[in-house]
Amino acid sequence: MTSRRILVTSALPYANGPIHLGHLVEYIQTDIWVRYQRMRGNDVRYFCADDTHGASIMIRAEQEGRSPEALIADMSAQHQRDFADFDVRFDHYGSTHSDTNRRRCESIWQGLREAGLVIERDVAQLYDTKRGMFLADRFVKGRCPSCDAADQYGDSCEKCGATYAATELKEPYSTVSGEAPEVRSAPHLFVRIEAQREFLAEWTQAGHLQPSVATFLKGQFLGKELRDWDISRPAPYFGFEIPDSPGNYWYVWFDAPIGYMASTEDWCRETGSSFDDWWRSPSTEIHHFIGKDITYFHALFWPAILKATGYELPTKVHVHGFLLVNGEKMSKSRGTFVEARTYLDHLDPAYLRYFYASRLSDKVDDLDLNVDELVNKIDSDLVNKVVNLAARSAGFVSEAGLSDSYPDDGGLFQEGMRTADEVAQAYEACDFAGATRAIMAHADRANTYFNDQAPWQLKKQDKLEQARAVGTVGINLYRQLALMLAPILPSLAKGTEALLGEPLTSFEQVKAPLVGRKIGPYQHLMQRVDPARVQAVLEATKSAAESAAQASAGAAPGGKGAAVDDDGPITSEPLAPECSIEDFQRVDLRVARVLEAEAVKGAKKLLKLTLSLGGEHRRTVFAGIKEAYEPEALIGRLVVMVANLAPRQMSFGLSEGMVAAAGPGKAEVFLLSPDSGAKPGQRVH
Ligand code: MSP
Ligand code: ZN
Repeated sequence: MTSRRILVTSALPYANGPIHLGHLVEYIQTDIWVRYQRMRGNDVRYFCADDTHGASIMIRAEQEGRSPEALIADMSAQHQRDFADFDVRFDHYGSTHSDTNRRRCESIWQGLREAGLVIERDVAQLYDTKRGMFLADRFVKGRCPSCDAADQYGDSCEKCGATYAATELKEPYSTVSGEAPEVRSAPHLFVRIEAQREFLAEWTQAGHLQPSVATFLKGQFLGKELRDWDISRPAPYFGFEIPDSPGNYWYVWFDAPIGYMASTEDWCRETGSSFDDWWRSPSTEIHHFIGKDITYFHALFWPAILKATGYELPTKVHVHGFLLVNGEKMSKSRGTFVEARTYLDHLDPAYLRYFYASRLSDKVDDLDLNVDELVNKIDSDLVNKVVNLAARSAGFVSEAGLSDSYPDDGGLFQEGMRTADEVAQAYEACDFAGATRAIMAHADRANTYFNDQAPWQLKKQDKLEQARAVGTVGINLYRQLALMLAPILPSLAKGTEALLGEPLTSFEQVKAPLVGRKIGPYQHLMQRVDPARVQAVLEATKSAAESAAQASAGAAPGGKGAAVDDDGPITSEPLAPECSIEDFQRVDLRVARVLEAEAVKGAKKLLKLTLSLGGEHRRTVFAGIKEAYEPEALIGRLVVMVANLAPRQMSFGLSEGMVAAAGPGKAEVFLLSPDSGAKPGQRVH
């Protein structure tokens, strides 16, 4: 069989949150498939990246007082650590906020323009006048136009399931500022997907999608005119500005899939490969793995764009279902929203990889994680059937080594080869549940053989050669199991390599038994699941959710339905005597940017800030905020300063003003910041 060239991707995780166990369904599924292809000798490459753009990232960065670039760099490092620790191995992990991606977007955009697929039209959207931005659906809440439920997002109602436009919400408010937004119009750019409908109608039904997905798209979308796809957003937006439409940015979903290409391209540059071999070669297979929620983007928009701009189309888009925990959607309040890192702090990633594999098929069904089932599955399959076989067999070959020729095993090794064919087909088809079932059936046969032969009795009867033969069979059947499981359990494969003294790299190895050699000492290959550690994961998740809930309750914007604040602060510090507007105007408050922030030697409470009022106008201010802020977190953010305060000589230096802040002091100091758009030097009236 000639080797296939295969490009594989998983969806690019959003940079605005941590990796959680739901995400891992996808990355583990993809990684297993990739490792399997590699063991078949195929030239397979796995690309991914962080999806970095959009309003959420912009707003979150602002709230955290740092630049979006700093935020996404941090998230990318976290994501990559999480993936690596779950043994998810990419050939390249990029970022959509890269020059490579920008250039690729520009060239694809050019192609769409030339194909006449771009049109411009005004869009009326809710606008937050206080914050100075158009509001994406998830930044607006209000009453559902259908059932009147309060606090529903701008696209759909969680109570009654109705979908609607954000402008239809009753009593809408911005979740960014808490203010009631107004409707404003702005020009947007659209891609005319309808022009590709005929092509899509054919492509989606031509075996590139699972049958249920193909049927869904046909019934839901392809029978009628496809709506134009709105791919621009007016400033302010964190993304790429559209070169021929200044002030407008590509919507995150335009540049995100192009990130698949950019990640490939970066890898090509590093390894001296040709980009066109991967994205413009009919002999290269392209496989995308995605969750069902983003089917529309990958099975309609993306192929339409690729087709229009002269790239190869995906060979397959593999769609998986969602992770449920105990039969319900993952939820922060129920304490089932488990982050990858929380799991890794307590449990072996191999458990989750195997459990997911045992539940994943080529269907789009949701997958249920139930803790008891996970514990049982690992103990009964991996520990009792697989690892135990190695442990028990090793004892009979540890001194003399494996028999010189492979003993008669009644056809079991042959049976293992047949099983490997079946398992290979199941892996290829993404039916990992089928693969694990076939592997466990082989493990059962191997254990039955071992028990029937009772080598411990042979040893007692001094039939050492016979006992060694049984041990040799046991080790070889175990080796077949470890090889077949290697895509799912790379860590078990590694331990097995140490035991056998040979690398496990190819599926072909199941055909040739290992004989006439010593093996290493048996060392633990996998521990039983410790229920106390599982409990620790759940508890850590619950307590993280509780503290997050408290934090956000404190920061809730004053929208409808927000909690009424208590009057503690105002009664403990009553209002100052009335002043006139002239009195107020004597105080010159200005917007300033923090250029530098550092601790002051010998001062427990002070940070030394260098503030910019624009241009060369700099001020040094000593602020008593050290217990509340990390200096690095302040750099770049905007603050409000009292700019005409008489300078004051302190033992550390001259303080030329004051930054405005609220709160009683110590760790409870809260700097004031203007909404974004404000410029250093502007006066606060
Ligand atoms: N950024 C987009 C994808 C852009 S691809 C060009 C995105 N990001 S995501 O972080 O929300 O999700 C990444 C992948 O993880 C998606 O395929 C999504 O379906 C999958 N999952 C996220 N939560 C999931 C579960 N709870 N269960 C299973 N998969 C889930 O979408
Ligand atoms: Zn409703």
